[in-house]
Amino acid sequence: MSGAVTLQPAGPLEAGVIAALQRACFPDDPWDAASIATLAGPPGGFAVLALAGEQPVGFVLARVAAEDAEILAIGVLPEARGGGLGRRLVEAAMEGAGRLGATALFLEVAEDNDAARALYKTCGFYSVGRRPGYYRRADGRVAALVLRHAVTGPSLPAGH
Ligand SMILES: CC(C)(COP(=O)(O)OP(=O)(O)OC[C@H]1O[C@@H](n2cnc3c(N)ncnc32)[C@H](O)[C@@H]1OP(=O)(O)O)[C@@H](O)C(=O)NCCC(=O)NCCS
Repeated sequence: MSGAVTLQPAGPLEAGVIAALQRACFPDDPWDAASIATLAGPPGGFAVLALAGEQPVGFVLARVAAEDAEILAIGVLPEARGGGLGRRLVEAAMEGAGRLGATALFLEVAEDNDAARALYKTCGFYSVGRRPGYYRRADGRVAALVLRHAVTGPSLPAGH
C-alpha cells in the first residue's frame, strides 16, 4: 500500500464505516453498525479511523469506564498490514484513554492470534489473566488472554 495514512477521531456517525472494516478484519464475527454506534458514543466510547487518502484501512474502538479503558476491537485491512498501522492505532487508543481519565488499558486477545499478540507485546502490554475456551473456532474453542498496559494522562502544555 502506498501513500501516507492518517488517523482521525471517529464516533457513532462513522459506525457504518467501522462496521465494514470490522467485517473485513473479523469475517467470522461481524458486528452491526447499530451496536458499533452505541459502543463508539458517550459515555466513554470512542473510535479512531486510519485513512489512506480517503480510503478507510483500519480502526480501533475503545471505551473508558472510570479508571479502566478497554480496546473492544482493532483491525487493519489485510493489504495495509505490516506497516506499523496496528501499533499507531493502539497508541491512539492509549492516548484517547488517557484523555478520558483512564489509568489502565485492557484488552482480550485469542491465544492463537499470533499477529495481534506480537503487536501487543511490542506495544508493552502484559498478561494479567486467561479465560479458557473464550473464543469459538471451527475446530473447537480457544482461550482469551487478558492484557494490560498502564496509561499516563495527557501531558500538560509547556509552561504549566
Ligand atoms: C493485529 C493487526 C491489527 C496488526 O496490524 P498491523 O498493522 O499489521 O500491525 P503493525 O504493522 O503495527 O505491527 C506491529 C508489530 O506486530 C508485529 N506483527 C504484526 N503482524 C505480525 C504477524 N503476522 N506475525 C508476527 N508479528 C507480527 C510486527 O512485527 C510489529 O512488531 P515491531 O513493531 O516490533 O516490528 C492486524 O493483523 C489485524 O487487523 N488482524 C485481524 C484483526 C485482529 O486480529 N485484531 C486483533 C484482535 S485482538
